[in-house]
Amino acid sequence: MLAKIKTLAKDIFPQLQAMRHHLHQHPELSFQEHQTMAFVAEKLRSWGIAFRAPVAGTGVVGIIEGKDPGSRIVALRADMDALPIQEANQVPYASQHPGVMHACGHDVHTTCLLGAAYILQQLREEWHGTVKLIFQPGEEKHPGGASLMIRDGALENPRPSCIIGMHVHPELPVGYLGFRTGISMASADEIYITIKGKGGHAASPHLTTDTILAASQVVVALQQVISRNKNPFSPSVLSICAFNGGYTTNVIPTEVKLLGTFRAMDETWRFQAHERIRQTIYHVAEAMGAEAEVEIPVGYPCLINDEQVTHAARALAEQYLDAEHVKDVDPRMGAEDFAFYSQVIPACFFRLGVASPGKGEGPTVHTPQFDIDEQALEIGAGIMAWLGARVTR
Ligand code: NI
Repeated sequence: MLAKIKTLAKDIFPQLQAMRHHLHQHPELSFQEHQTMAFVAEKLRSWGIAFRAPVAGTGVVGIIEGKDPGSRIVALRADMDALPIQEANQVPYASQHPGVMHACGHDVHTTCLLGAAYILQQLREEWHGTVKLIFQPGEEKHPGGASLMIRDGALENPRPSCIIGMHVHPELPVGYLGFRTGISMASADEIYITIKGKGGHAASPHLTTDTILAASQVVVALQQVISRNKNPFSPSVLSICAFNGGYTTNVIPTEVKLLGTFRAMDETWRFQAHERIRQTIYHVAEAMGAEAEVEIPVGYPCLINDEQVTHAARALAEQYLDAEHVKDVDPRMGAEDFAFYSQVIPACFFRLGVASPGKGEGPTVHTPQFDIDEQALEIGAGIMAWLGARVTR
């Protein structure tokens, strides 16, 4: 079975490249993946794979049954959306959509899952159970396509016992995979703050409420939520990234807007922190004679890699490559909406090396220069098929 998957993955490499080039040339923003959905649906249809679409607007859920369907049910997931970035690469397959680019490798994820689907369908007499294919929209945008896929039943009828996701990883050379057990990525919640006050002539601050000073105190005080209220053993970050108020040298503005992000690796602390953040803002503003409005919409949760599934997937990856090509990866404070699945069923999110060997780290994701060594497509499709055929929990 392993050898057959490897052979098929090698055989379809030109098709994988062609699919990736097509997707890369035609990127679509979050929740607008209409052409991408049609492309995925057409491929599945042409291979005789049953699917449901649209799910969550522009998502696709496919089903492949091996022998004894239902004896084990595993979900494989890919995200399909692109970013509002102008591609800088001068390659024949560069984005044809101005200002939109697959700069996070979701074209690669979609291609590899399509490749895995093809392989699993070809070899369906050789593995047991049912594989669910989840092609989701909107990973890059609130509220996260994964949450909408779950809402629209992607994890029901049949319910998988576990879910596997993969992300391109420019820090690893092609030919390597990265795994981590337990908490792996942070929750991410946006913070919107408005500080309001009387404002007025800069020469008469005593007759005004200085919203600039009040907002400054708020920014400083918020850092103390992290340094004084957080357990030092729990990673967490709060960054205020926009400070907008005023327009000239001698007028104290009536309003200042602050924008920021809060990240945590513990769901209990996450929501305790939301309350501390609100209270700190309200009371610091009040002490300064100002008023505050705060919004913290609930964003992506923490991504937890289930111990059992991740150990099983890692062991299978070591069979597919070898132990030397399977690495441990560090946790990161970035967020990923695959976390929503990991909150519902046991999950494993692993990393696909995409850097060209000998050239150091590849260009990072979310940059206009991002690209991959396409040899990764063969490994990505093959390993997803192998995990789909074998992983259990
Ligand atoms: Ni991504």
